Amino acid sequence: MQGFKKAFAEQLRLALPSQEVTLERPKDYQKGDLAFPCFKASQSLGMSPQSLASLLASKIKIKDATIEATGPYVNLRLLESVRSRETLASTLGNYPLPPQEKKNATILVEYSSPNIAKLFTIGHVRSTMLGHALANIYAQEGYEVVRLNHLGDWGTQFGTLLAAYELWAKDSNPELEKNFPWAAEYSSESTTPLHRLLQLYIRFHAEEEKNVSLREDARAWFKKLENQDPDARRLWKKFRDLSLIEFNRIYERLGVTFDSLEYGEAFYEDQIPGVLNALDSKGLLKEGENGSKVVDLSEEGFDIPCLIQKGDGTSIYASRDLAAALFRKSKWNYERCLYVAGSEQNFHFQQVFAILSKIDPWFKNKQTHVPFGLIKLPEGKMSTRKGNVIFLEDVLNEARDRIQKIISAKNPELSNQAATSEMLGTGAVIFINAFNDRNTSITFDWNKVLAFEGDTGPYVQYAHARICSIFRRAGGSWSQWAEPRSEDFGRLHFESIELPKSLQGLDHASAQHLIFELNGLEPALKASAISLSPTSLARQLLTISKAFSVFYNDSPILNVEQSEAIRQSRLLLCLATARVINQGLRWLGIFAPTEM
Ligand code: ARG
Repeated sequence: MQGFKKAFAEQLRLALPSQEVTLERPKDYQKGDLAFPCFKASQSLGMSPQSLASLLASKIKIKDATIEATGPYVNLRLLESVRSRETLASTLGNYPLPPQEKKNATILVEYSSPNIAKLFTIGHVRSTMLGHALANIYAQEGYEVVRLNHLGDWGTQFGTLLAAYELWAKDSNPELEKNFPWAAEYSSESTTPLHRLLQLYIRFHAEEEKNVSLREDARAWFKKLENQDPDARRLWKKFRDLSLIEFNRIYERLGVTFDSLEYGEAFYEDQIPGVLNALDSKGLLKEGENGSKVVDLSEEGFDIPCLIQKGDGTSIYASRDLAAALFRKSKWNYERCLYVAGSEQNFHFQQVFAILSKIDPWFKNKQTHVPFGLIKLPEGKMSTRKGNVIFLEDVLNEARDRIQKIISAKNPELSNQAATSEMLGTGAVIFINAFNDRNTSITFDWNKVLAFEGDTGPYVQYAHARICSIFRRAGGSWSQWAEPRSEDFGRLHFESIELPKSLQGLDHASAQHLIFELNGLEPALKASAISLSPTSLARQLLTISKAFSVFYNDSPILNVEQSEAIRQSRLLLCLATARVINQGLRWLGIFAPTEM
């Protein structure tokens, strides 16, 4: 396909020397494989896009393809046999796709960043999985990607926690004072040390409403922590260690990784003076109320200045973000840093980015906040302070258990039901996030999210499993393609395969449509990179799965009455489809079962 793209673009450039040539994919495969929209070029030439399209179509000739004008578009359509061969050759010869040519630029993707001692809530799954997908996508696009987690392991909430612990838990909760080897074993169904910490946090906020002096306690504890008080530090470290055990278990379950978990907010604690200096030397640091320090941003259009240091000298969220940016600049000299965090933090990031550009023009346009809407369960919104939070782990467990029920009704013979239910349940939760535009809020409807039919992860996973079952039935050397590699469960063998001299039985509409859609994976990946959202990728995987289903229903594959050549060609198309789906799901962070 690349060869045709190049040839088509070259001829268009020759015909339109001073114009920019960008090619699209027609929406309807019957129109062709590539399209050149004539709107822009025709405008500067003073003619209608329709007449320019016809003119270009009559001039351009490319072997093995027809060139036609359809309204304002010039379309290139490959001969069926060529489309089949091109697509299968690239998918079966070269998968998983090697990353694009190295870009020699580093992109930092900061995602997940849960707050310690507040557990991993369902809200964090969106940041986690969006960030994970974006990191995969940019790595595929040839960037050097650094995966960062700006753990919320510092800040006034620790003051709250320490004060609450001191008040109510010190004596009653001796386990917290011991070592925590058993903490790794707990499951979220039981009360974990972390749940108990959360209870403390919630209780504190409830009691604080009646007794405002508690707020002072919390503030004093945070100050102690920042002043290196050994008791405060020891407890803080314990809370952090406990939280990390919990978070790591969840990351493992989701298959999500980071380059380091070291760079949380606490990491920047001793770099705050550097931030204050940088601001001061530019004359940006102003006295705020009650002895606090602020940066005035009225020139940038903000009515409220940005608080940098509190009156009692303690640091704040924004100052730690400034420190992080300065650190990241010197460590990675990045081209772009993506902050995947909820849209309720828009204002915070706007202020932080504005200050960075004031400190050093290097930062201009290098930081991007990638916001997203809320996830809601039918029960309503959540807030850690009030205690009606929804834990991610409970959601994953619920998804898994519900899938397990569906499987035991549909396919009770299935071996490995536990692992499959986990893949489908987790896959469904991840997919619904990717599928929805990232700015919209999602309300979970279990039946819709987990359905095997519909716009769901399990539907795409089902297409994959179905193909694997075709290979098992095909027998012989075909069955090897349905075996996941043990070291990387859910991933098939991707060795390259040589195509037979002639491909047969692929010229009909459903096969051609499927082939056309397989070619849509890479453009969808690009679109996802540009829009900073895996939505195009998720939607293309659904489109491919639907096209596969139509092909499967109207094209006998293993039917003995057919010629061996047809059987082989169709099996190869199945294999290409499985690889594309497997790869695409991988980018989203979803495992593909071989049976379900
Ligand atoms: N810990 C924050 C939260 O859970 C998200 C951090 C976002 N990243 C940042 N650099 N401020 O809400």
